[in-house]
Amino acid sequence: MAVKKIGVLTSGGDCGGLNAVVKGAAAMADSLGIKCYVIPNGYAGLYNLVNFEQLTELDHDRIELINTHMAGSEAGHSRVKVKKIKDPDKYERIKKGLEKFGIDGLVISGGDDSGSVMVDLHKNGIACVHAPKTMDMDLQTYSVGADSTINRIANFANDLKTTGRTHNRIIVLEVFGRYAGHTAFRGGIAADVDAILIPEIPVDFEALYAHAKEKLTSRIGGSDVFAGTYMIVVAEGLRDASGKEIVDESAGVDAFGHKKLAGAAKYVCQELTKRLKADTDIVEFMKKTHMYVEGIYEVPEAREVRPGHLVRCGHSSAYDVNFGKQVGAGAVAALVEGVTGVTMAGVAGNSVRFMDAEKAIEQRHVDIDQVSLYEQMGTCFGRNPVKFNAAFHKIEDTPERYM
Ligand code: F6P
Repeated sequence: MAVKKIGVLTSGGDCGGLNAVVKGAAAMADSLGIKCYVIPNGYAGLYNLVNFEQLTELDHDRIELINTHMAGSEAGHSRVKVKKIKDPDKYERIKKGLEKFGIDGLVISGGDDSGSVMVDLHKNGIACVHAPKTMDMDLQTYSVGADSTINRIANFANDLKTTGRTHNRIIVLEVFGRYAGHTAFRGGIAADVDAILIPEIPVDFEALYAHAKEKLTSRIGGSDVFAGTYMIVVAEGLRDASGKEIVDESAGVDAFGHKKLAGAAKYVCQELTKRLKADTDIVEFMKKTHMYVEGIYEVPEAREVRPGHLVRCGHSSAYDVNFGKQVGAGAVAALVEGVTGVTMAGVAGNSVRFMDAEKAIEQRHVDIDQVSLYEQMGTCFGRNPVKFNAAFHKIEDTPERYM
């Protein structure tokens, strides 16, 4: 069946690069003489499509208004899982909505949850293609949003060093990323922070404290104005030494039914402060550096900073815009060829790469072997450093390149 009309839908948490997916899909459709419509507000809009009087068509002029430089999505989002909708006729209702507007297929941009809904819709006879998106970077493919977020985290961490150094504080920056530590890891490395705490490595607070104490005291003690800081980036899904997640249960759950994660940075501050207060060397150090004021300022402070949604809003990185256009356009090309129920991986040369969607949305964690490389260079990951064991491999084939 020739594809004449498509819908574009974005879902889950917003992030950088989404507008590039929308624009890429719309521009590709336009070039092929296919009409492209916005399905507003994710799966909520899809479920209610049947009640819409009209949809916005992304024609040549409307495409021009989509600013790929900005994060967020022109199509709007919701965190609605179709499977969870009680209505037993939900799939029929969605199909009726699509029929009403003559929509032959969907480009769906989202992360693991939204991707799993796409798989579900596809199994229920709806033609769709998944364009990967999540700032968490925890899919098997790259996903728009990650690079923009990592850059923002790196900027925040770098900026916070001025406050940290002025007040001789330990700063603990808590960042989104759920149970994968990619954004904390990559943002922290890019900002040259002292410690990065990720869910993949349960924290040994003795090891972290020893590292923090050594760095902070040597920086302040070695400074001609007694100034220094210790910078930590912590992933929101952190686990304690027993592997239990550190989460403030009062934060509640989101519409997908997931716990809202909060409390990791606070917990790290408490653990460090406890040790600073119990350590007699610290009082000696405060006296030696002429900072000690009895009852008022006896140990350095540890402060948490939680930028929350600031890590995924604002501007899209150039990398995310490039990748977003590739997967948006690639998804339309796939729909036209009848390649559906898949996740776009990128475009290398003229090869449109895709994966089985169920495989693509399997959660990917930080590669612990690679952590050791950075440990060897001095970054603390909340454990005693593990030696990096280099293994050498010569690449025989051309490596995959998306840029
Ligand atoms: O999944 C993306 C994400 O940004 C997570 O890193 C974070 O835990 C969550 O979304 C926050 O979602 P919301 O905006 O719904 O609070």
